[in-house]
Amino acid sequence: MSAVDPTFDLDGQPVALQPGDTILSAAARAGLDIPHLCWSEEVSGSASCRLCTVLADGRPVAACVTPAVAGQKVECRTASLATQRLRLLQMLFVEGNHFCPGCEKSGNCVLQVQAERAGMTELHFEVLNPERPVDASHPDVLFEPNRCILCQLCVRASDELDGKRVFAIGGHGIATRLLIDSPSGRLGDSALSVDDRAAHICPVGALLPKRVGFAVPIGQRRFDTEDTRG
Ligand code: SF4
Ligand code: FES
Repeated sequence: MSAVDPTFDLDGQPVALQPGDTILSAAARAGLDIPHLCWSEEVSGSASCRLCTVLADGRPVAACVTPAVAGQKVECRTASLATQRLRLLQMLFVEGNHFCPGCEKSGNCVLQVQAERAGMTELHFEVLNPERPVDASHPDVLFEPNRCILCQLCVRASDELDGKRVFAIGGHGIATRLLIDSPSGRLGDSALSVDDRAAHICPVGALLPKRVGFAVPIGQRRFDTEDTRG
């Protein structure tokens, strides 16, 4: 970074800007973590999870879709934002069935690691125990809707990277769910291929390629080496 590069301040650290940057993309490039679930540099932003909420000059904004502005003061690590992130994560956990000990994504799951980073030790809210039918109709990809956090990464990957539009979000309120574009509404009748990016971008254990689960030894999974204590 040269002296003339425009920067903003993230929790006391200068972060260099490039044209088109959001607060989150600039921070990610600088190696500074702003907690997030529904953002990926591969696809456009959806601002659906709100885990990336920061204070930009005192105003709460979703860092994944808010343009970075030179000279701005951005706060991510305040006590109230930490509590808000914890509550958001607790809401996501009670809304679905996140039985991590039996989930193939455990150790590789972004929701699980964000909860660990947030210091989540209890669920806080009433558990809803949804009973949405699992869709195992596709020969190579499983859909477990009780783990879906509606991040829409598969929706955007199918649309923007695969050019297929296999997925969409439908319904309202607590009944909102991931829809599959096929005559039967089932994955097996859709255009999804296991080679599609949409089949692999799910940050949790909702969309899973079949016959590859539990392949990585505990200790070598994506987040196993991260020390999230204190
Ligand atoms: S299936 Fe996975 S990627 Fe798709 S919306 Fe649900 S959690 Fe997100
Ligand atoms: S990462 Fe910004 S709202 Fe989800």
